[in-house]
Amino acid sequence: MLLHIPDVLTAQQVHDARTLLDESAWVDGNVTAGHQSARAKRNMQIPEDHPVSQQLGEVILRALGVNPLFISAALPLKVFPPLFNRYEGGHSFGTHVDNAIRTVTGTPHKVRTDLSATLFLASPDEYDGGELVVEDLYGVHNVKLPAGHMVLYPASSLHHVRPVTRGARVASFFWIQSMVRDDGERSLLFDLDSVIQGITPDLPQHPALVQLTGVYHNLLRRWADL
Ligand code: NI
Repeated sequence: MLLHIPDVLTAQQVHDARTLLDESAWVDGNVTAGHQSARAKRNMQIPEDHPVSQQLGEVILRALGVNPLFISAALPLKVFPPLFNRYEGGHSFGTHVDNAIRTVTGTPHKVRTDLSATLFLASPDEYDGGELVVEDLYGVHNVKLPAGHMVLYPASSLHHVRPVTRGARVASFFWIQSMVRDDGERSLLFDLDSVIQGITPDLPQHPALVQLTGVYHNLLRRWADL
């Protein structure tokens, strides 16, 4: 499932984040690349242990913690502390798959990367190129979203970032370990939850709603690992 989650951050939060990021010291993005992806990666990042990274990461995690669409779609167990990247002057990231397991730097904590997320922090009119291109069973998707919006996609997908030929593409990127590892099972739960949310306003007293909600929780109980 590839899902667009609108308005994760407000315009004010994006503005504040960009003010901090634009005056930060960026380093070569290969600091977080795996062996295979290091050859394909051309961009800049904020170091993981940089205070700006930690401060903005907390803003993003708090926003995600109260975002019903994110919670329903990702069923998050652990979220990797958000990282920040910047592509400009022809920077790109060739086709790759994200590493399956990531260790949070300086800690023993590991996150299995079931889902990848990109939260756009630059408006599409600030830069040319820079589309995130995700390949899945249903084809090739070009993703370029308004600032503050996020895309969520299976970390197992082949993906790349097209060269940025004008301006700068600034984004946050991170991974989610879901309570439900399998993308197909997680997608079914998301669809079922969406149906329940969709009919509840029209039929709030209907007894079948209780049964449907029961089916949702019984499937989640069957499939979830904590
Ligand atoms: Ni990637």
